[in-house]
Amino acid sequence: MARETWATRVGFILAAVGSAVGLGNIWRFPWVTAENGGSAFLAMYLGIVLLVGVPGLLAMFVVGRRAKRNPVGALQQLSGSDRWGLAGGFLVFSSLVLISFYSVVGGWILRYLGESLLGVVAGSAPYFADPGASFGAASVGLDAVAFHLVFLALTAFVVVAGIRRGIEVATKWMMPAIFALLVGLAAWASTQAGAAEAYAFYLRFDTSVIRENFFGLLGPAAGQALFTLSLGVGTMITYASYLDEDRSLPFDGASVAVLNTVVGVLAGLVVFPLLFSLGIEPGETGTGAGALFVGLAGAFAQLPAGALVATAFFAVVALAALSSAISILEISVSFLVDEYDLPRRRAAATVGGLVAVTGSVCALNAGVFGFVAGTLVDILLTIGLAVCLVFVGWVMGRDALVEFRKGAGPVGRAVATPWLFAVGVLLPTFLVFTLLTTFNVDAEIGFWPTVAAAVAVAGAAFAGLRGERSLV
Ligand code: PHE
Ligand code: NA
Repeated sequence: MARETWATRVGFILAAVGSAVGLGNIWRFPWVTAENGGSAFLAMYLGIVLLVGVPGLLAMFVVGRRAKRNPVGALQQLSGSDRWGLAGGFLVFSSLVLISFYSVVGGWILRYLGESLLGVVAGSAPYFADPGASFGAASVGLDAVAFHLVFLALTAFVVVAGIRRGIEVATKWMMPAIFALLVGLAAWASTQAGAAEAYAFYLRFDTSVIRENFFGLLGPAAGQALFTLSLGVGTMITYASYLDEDRSLPFDGASVAVLNTVVGVLAGLVVFPLLFSLGIEPGETGTGAGALFVGLAGAFAQLPAGALVATAFFAVVALAALSSAISILEISVSFLVDEYDLPRRRAAATVGGLVAVTGSVCALNAGVFGFVAGTLVDILLTIGLAVCLVFVGWVMGRDALVEFRKGAGPVGRAVATPWLFAVGVLLPTFLVFTLLTTFNVDAEIGFWPTVAAAVAVAGAAFAGLRGERSLV
């Protein structure tokens, strides 16, 4: 059976934006920004998106479109060596870890959406009375398992329908809906009492925070940048594998990054005014996963039209989460379809069954959840992306340049060679560096020793590859 392709260019871009825009922008981003001192963190994160995220995204597109296979098959085929399939397997494994906790949070969102809707009907949402206790009850336990399963089923439903009739159709209306709702919510939020203070916190550029806490910020900023652009698990390889025409990859990549950033910043313009208008300092309601739910639920509870606003807000988050979860599930489904010839339905049932179990573990144990969502995923994504970049720079080499230039305009063609150098050398070194700082934060080993260690690790990796094929 011929491999499916996207029906339209905009379909591919919107599906990739759908993957990028997700809980990362709306749930994780405000929470991590608040924990790390606001605007300075935002600036650092935007810098990493531009300098690391976009070139990294293009590298994933290059792999996917060149091979037109799932991550495992793609790395095998492009390298001509089965050993690289292991690296692809690592990506697929990471995607399963990711979807396990992602689907649990998606379940929380569905529950909050449902309760907000009830609130519109009944006048007050059930969680309004005591947001803290209500989140505690909703986030861990059998309820959380049940909602996780519902969310997972919705995700699988779209994936089973395939690329054109499922993912493309779904994301094509979800993305404009998210955008329109967020613009409306941001406009409304700007009329709230705390808006001015919130903008000051969010948008003021205070470099001293960066200078004082460079190491502390780097890991979270890089982790968030990779997470938000869906890098490091093979989603973008998979989506690009369904491209048939040779359109400009640099253009598509830049579009995805810009749209994703706009939505992220918009989400902050909704979340922060709400919190500030109630005098809730972001991060004050406890740091961690619940901060946003408890803080915002508290805000909604005190607003005149709270249930209605809450419904719009949780609808945005639900659509964003769903379109991302779809892109995560598609990785392992495409793997089973390509490599084992399973029909989509069987593949989705297999992966869905597995994630039903692993996600339930996260839903039943807050410790496991916190470790997976807070630490493990950052590490897996960073390693996964670094490995892919080394692959593109050192194994694909010239082929990657050819693929990058295909269909690109004059600007895209001009940046191809510097891009490959960044992808093969600078970015992997940077990623190893951030990984080391993540482990280092308390040890305080210092900047230059960490750089030296990163160069050494990266150098060893490159040296190991020399025998396979050399950089252009
Ligand atoms: N980018 C998604 C978000 O911000 C998360 C994601 C990560 C999706 C990796 C796919 C792959 O929520
Ligand atoms: Na999404």
